[in-house]
Amino acid sequence: MIIDILTLFPESFSALDTSIIARAKKSGKIEINLINIRDFSSDKHKKCDDTPFGGGAGMLMTAQPIYDAVMSVKKENSKIILPSPSGKLFSAKKARELSENEHIIIICGHYEGIDQRIIDIFEPEEISIGDYVLTGGELPAMVIVDATLRFVEGVISKESLEEESFSSNLLEYPQYTRPQVFQGLEVPFVLTNGNHKEIANWQKEKAFEKTKKNRPDLLNWEER
Ligand SMILES: C[S@@+](CC[C@H](N)C(=O)[O-])C[C@H]1O[C@@H](n2cnc3c(N)ncnc32)[C@H](O)[C@@H]1O
Repeated sequence: MIIDILTLFPESFSALDTSIIARAKKSGKIEINLINIRDFSSDKHKKCDDTPFGGGAGMLMTAQPIYDAVMSVKKENSKIILPSPSGKLFSAKKARELSENEHIIIICGHYEGIDQRIIDIFEPEEISIGDYVLTGGELPAMVIVDATLRFVEGVISKESLEEESFSSNLLEYPQYTRPQVFQGLEVPFVLTNGNHKEIANWQKEKAFEKTKKNRPDLLNWEER
């Protein structure tokens, strides 16, 4: 999979150079390119924003540099995404769906957002990562990329994906590692006795308790 991220702030993306994503890049399973929208500005000062018609606070990203940046990478099969607080809410289901694409382009808005004509021309899928407003699309882009890449074949193990929160209508059960006693708190005995059936029952029960406490809405099953 190739992901082209269009941004005014490519330096924000160092998190994609660490851990599992860095490994997946190194192994050639994924390719992530950071494309600086400013490089495409035809303005002599490389300006990429302007005041909105009709008034209102703040600046908007202008259409021309974004249009040219998209056109420089767009292919017939490109899936274009625009992180936006007014998009549809992101989910594990959407991440899995996005992982099926060969080429994804993510347009990172900044300031008050982008000129509507970019949305009219390219019809990107607008995705919100939550009901709050961030200063730019860079963090949402990283969230979308990270969650999506976990579903790309070979990036992490199938078993890890199967047992995680949102892989069913239950959140993940509590987990423990060594030492067996920490600050006087002992690992539940059932996890140490080697009885796989009892362990599975305990995990299911704890997952249900946690879901009921933190996300009772998930118990009305619907894939997310
Ligand atoms: C300050 S926000 C613009 C907010 C916009 N004026 C509004 O009221 O909907 C700037 C950029 O950050 C990104 N952004 C902010 N919050 C987001 C969220 N919850 N989900 C996805 N993207 C978000 C988008 O790319 C957006 O264009």
